[in-house]
Amino acid sequence: MKRISSLLPVLAAACLISVSALAAKPEPAASQAEVEARLMRVMADSRARDSAAAAGKRAAFLCVHCHGEQGVSPLDYVPNLASQNPVYLLAQIDKFGDGRRNDEFMSGLVKVLKPEDRFNMAVFYASQPVIPRPSKDKRLESDGARHYARACVGCHGAQARGTKEVARLAGQQPVYVKNALNGYRQATGLRADPRMTGVAKRLSPAEINALAAYLSTLP
Ligand code: HEC
Ligand code: HEC
Repeated sequence: MKRISSLLPVLAAACLISVSALAAKPEPAASQAEVEARLMRVMADSRARDSAAAAGKRAAFLCVHCHGEQGVSPLDYVPNLASQNPVYLLAQIDKFGDGRRNDEFMSGLVKVLKPEDRFNMAVFYASQPVIPRPSKDKRLESDGARHYARACVGCHGAQARGTKEVARLAGQQPVYVKNALNGYRQATGLRADPRMTGVAKRLSPAEINALAAYLSTLP
């Protein structure tokens, strides 16, 4: 309950915005490929990127409470968004919006965001630096590194920075990584992706623990 009551101001603000969003003129819909191409163009052009990121930071006032001022989360079950791949970020926001991914808070919140806000937020968060955790347990981390090299590197990349569609894992919150892997593994329906389900099903709890510890230390 503590989690819910501390969020009342956030939820109230979201309601106000959803009322004003109803009154706003609908934006012309762009195809996903067009949005993606525009996102890559803006990320590559420092002036366009700075201006989109500034607008994204303003729109992200609703997100600060959980995801932190600059996308480094103060809560261990909330993912860092800093340095995450922008196309992946935008895709996840859209998934919460249309029900392909579900979370008690995210699902309601993102419905009130206009397409332009979603776009600018993806640019803002993708442009922020991630803060890796200092190493704590060398043995656990080297186990994690071994499992990563065996089972994950092919899709998430040697530095765990992902690609356009594959999530960046480097520097991610360890509790969130564990929850995400268990979610895929247990097929709870909150989140499903055929590329992750098979891999996650083959991991033991000890392997998940080691992977989460290792990934959180990566820059
Ligand atoms: C009440 C806390 C809360 C607020 C406020 C919040 N989020 Fe989240 N967000 C979460 C949680 C918890 C998750 C992880 C859900 C899950 O486990 O699937 C998440 C996940 C995400 C993800 C997916 C990240 C990934 O690595 O897959 C994105 C993108 C995101 N949030 C964007 C936003 C944006 C943009 C806002 C502001 C409009 C926002 N969030 C506000 C709690 C919050
Ligand atoms: C076949 C390719 C593939 C392999 C192999 C793979 N992943 Fe993934 N992973 C993905 C894709 C694609 C996503 C994004 C899925 C989505 O949109 O829900 C993802 C998402 C994730 C997420 C959620 C990240 C976030 O920010 O929410 C975690 C955690 C993760 N993978 C961990 C791992 C680990 C650990 C391994 C190795 C044991 C692994 N993955 C192996 C493709 C893969």
